[in-house]
Amino acid sequence: MGVLGLGYVELWVGNARQSAAFFSNCFGFSVAPPAGPRSGPDDRVSYVLRQGTITLVVTGAATPDSPVAGYVHAHGDGVRDIALVADDASTLFRRAVEGGAKVIPPEASGGSSTRPMIATFGDTVHTLLDGNDPLALSVAGEPTGIESLGPVGLVSIDHYAVSVESGGCAGWTSHYGSALGFEPATRDEHVEVNGSAFTMSTVRVPGGPGAFVFAEPAPSRNKSQIAHYLEQFGGPGVHHIAFSTNDIRRTVLSLRTRGIPMLEIAASYSRNADERLREIDVDWRELADLGVMVDVDDEGYLLQAFTQPLGDRPTTYLEIIQREGTKGFGAQNVRALYSTVVREQEQSHSSRS
Ligand SMILES: [Fe+2]
Repeated sequence: MGVLGLGYVELWVGNARQSAAFFSNCFGFSVAPPAGPRSGPDDRVSYVLRQGTITLVVTGAATPDSPVAGYVHAHGDGVRDIALVADDASTLFRRAVEGGAKVIPPEASGGSSTRPMIATFGDTVHTLLDGNDPLALSVAGEPTGIESLGPVGLVSIDHYAVSVESGGCAGWTSHYGSALGFEPATRDEHVEVNGSAFTMSTVRVPGGPGAFVFAEPAPSRNKSQIAHYLEQFGGPGVHHIAFSTNDIRRTVLSLRTRGIPMLEIAASYSRNADERLREIDVDWRELADLGVMVDVDDEGYLLQAFTQPLGDRPTTYLEIIQREGTKGFGAQNVRALYSTVVREQEQSHSSRS
């Protein structure tokens, strides 16, 4: 009994039609009709996008008093709902509530869905789906007129990285374990980057794939990337969604030709990468030029790259990840990633001031 896997992910955005076109044209999702997952509420418009086993929903406000408009005002575009698929959603819902999860009544979210929904970090929620729920499988309907340029090789949702407030990692990992049946994967890894520090803990869907990597600011001389995120997003939330691919080189090249370059790798990372990569048969130089980082552990290695921020605030990113044996989350790359992200934030800040 418990969570079987990650279901759809829903972003609340300033303009759903434009977001759908962006994810379709640039990331190769195919678009199903508007009002997919929660047909009924007339205060919003949703587009359902699919690629591999990924279902991505983008929802925008159709009225000024829609909760979607309030969310976007507070946070900018961001992840609102991470659906969890369970063998029995009702049983999981009862367990979650007994474990301290706050219930979101359908009317509070403005939707008409009768599927159970619980609050989680910040203004994010989990809709709980039965494994045989049509929403967990497919959405049919009329064409939208938004045509995809073809997939870029995205396969599934690998993990979510979540920024939480100081002290939040222990509480959230324990909550996901006791209330939702996730397994602990890593505990309290301390990371220091250029005088700033944060702590990470990870929980995973039993048997995987699917995981949450929580990160909280730690006391340090400089403000950490997590502290920056909390300030710029306006509280805890999803920092990045990681999509898996079987061929990161092809995926990243496709994204680049569609106008989505990856974050550049920090020079300090490139300098020590050759040493770490000696035993791996990949063309490190080509991958580095594409912004792809490599991480090695006892089980194998993984390749990962990160997009620029999706929206106007430097808060929500996408990760592309290819796993070759390892179940880790690129601990060695986190340092490189966050030093790069800090640089982006500083550039973003200086361009505004
Ligand atoms: Fe990640």
